[in-house]
Amino acid sequence: MTHRIGVIGGDGIGPEVVAEALKVVDAAGVTYERTDYDLGAHRYLEDGTVLPDEVLEEWRGLDALLLGAVGDPAPGVAAPPGLVERGILLRMRFELDQYINFRPFRLPPRIDCEVIRENTEGTYAGEGGFLRKGTPHEIATQGSVNTRMGVERCVRFAFERARNSERHQLHLIHKKNVLTFAGDLWQRTFDEVAAEYPDVSTGYDHIDAACIHFVERPERYDVIVTDNLFGDILTDLGGAVAGGVGYAASANLNPARTGPSMFEPVHGTAPDIAGQQKANPIAAIVSAGLMLEFLGESDAASRVAAACERPERYSGSTSGIGDAVAAAVAS
Ligand code: IPM
Ligand code: MN
Repeated sequence: MTHRIGVIGGDGIGPEVVAEALKVVDAAGVTYERTDYDLGAHRYLEDGTVLPDEVLEEWRGLDALLLGAVGDPAPGVAAPPGLVERGILLRMRFELDQYINFRPFRLPPRIDCEVIRENTEGTYAGEGGFLRKGTPHEIATQGSVNTRMGVERCVRFAFERARNSERHQLHLIHKKNVLTFAGDLWQRTFDEVAAEYPDVSTGYDHIDAACIHFVERPERYDVIVTDNLFGDILTDLGGAVAGGVGYAASANLNPARTGPSMFEPVHGTAPDIAGQQKANPIAAIVSAGLMLEFLGESDAASRVAAACERPERYSGSTSGIGDAVAAAVAS
């Protein structure tokens, strides 16, 4: 079966790292039909395009999207803050219902964990607004939206992951001592679903404590489930402790498969090194491996994962690292 893959190189180092990721997919022997989309801050600055409705509609017919990074394209060159992040990334996650953000972290012998981040709700939902903007009596509110359906489908996904993991452990991370309404809904949902998974051992940590554990005793965690904003922050920390954000991969999954899932490295556009072949493509390559797994190409996916097992052994230029991983995957 030929997979239909949409490719968004994006800005900065995005196109460079995506090129290496696809090089590795080719080396793994997977065939696909590729459509490129020229989107990102550079495109917005060129002609005002962010994400046309027709493009979003076209994406619904794809099997997967592979994205490099969107944001500042070059030093001193920028679209309005957050415009392409919200207009492309968040719109894609919301409208294609990519409700799971899956981010694995591995650095043997102590770190082998994955974060399941809710990807369509929480503070990211955009609830809120201004009152009396620009006056001394200005008010800004920013709500957190947590639906039973949204929380439950995320928690269920996490329990399934934990059931199939080696250690069968799942931690809920929140801040239920302060965020009492949302925290209550998360904990109740978590406990109810837990009753269906007696084989999974469960725990709870506040987000601030989890940050300490991530640094001081990362072996505490197997699978983690958390809300959108806590997951955003915790996965940057995860990247930093597991060898650097240059290795951190990410999958924005629509497990119901009512639309394509999107795969992207956690890192950004790194404008200071763009176009210089200095970016580490490992995060993009591992993300492409997650894509292969989700597309049912399990054999190719395991070969990509195995080749990236000890990423620190690769060094050199962006394409040099891509070549080396491709050779390891092909052999
Ligand atoms: C991420 C990024 C995005 C997020 C930004 C770019 C909107 O930081 O994928 O983690 O906050 O989700
Ligand atoms: Mn982030």
